[in-house]
Amino acid sequence: MKKADKETRYAELLEEIQALTASESDDIANMANIAAAIHAKMGFHWTGFYRVLGDELVLGPFQGPVACTRIRCGRGVCGTAWKEARTLIVPDVDQFPGHIACSALSRSEIVIPILRDGAVWGELDIDSAELDTFDAVDEQYLSEILTPLKR
Ligand code: SME
Repeated sequence: MKKADKETRYAELLEEIQALTASESDDIANMANIAAAIHAKMGFHWTGFYRVLGDELVLGPFQGPVACTRIRCGRGVCGTAWKEARTLIVPDVDQFPGHIACSALSRSEIVIPILRDGAVWGELDIDSAELDTFDAVDEQYLSEILTPLKR
C-alpha cells in the first residue's frame, strides 16, 4: 500500500474508532471493536489483543485465524515487546529469534504495548501475510488508536 493511501485509511480509521469508543468504558468491548475496525479497514492477516495476566500474556479479542492463548514474558515478539516495554516492528518474522508462528502465513508483525500506570497492561499485535508491512506510520496511528485503552 502506498504511504499516502495508508495515511488516508488510518485517518478514517482513527475517526471511526474514536466514535466507536467515545461512550464505552468497558475494555473488552473496546478491544473487540478496535480489532474488528482495524482488521476490516486495513486487510491485515491477524489483528488482536493480548492482556498481561500474572506472569503471562493471555489472548484477548481478535480477528483472523485462531491464535496461541498464552505467551510468557520474553518469549516471541509479543513477550519481548512486553519485557522491553516498547513497540517492536518485525519486517521478516523468520529473522526474529524465537518468533511464535501462530499462523504459517504470517510474514511481518508489529506489537505495540499498552501502558497503565507505567506498566504494560496489554498489547496490540498485528500480523501481515506480506514481508515488511509495518513502519513508523503504522506505529504512530495505531498508538493513537489505542488511546481509549490507556489510563
Ligand atoms: N507471533 C507472535 C505470537 C502471537 S501471534 O502472532 C497472534 C509472537 O511471536 O509473539
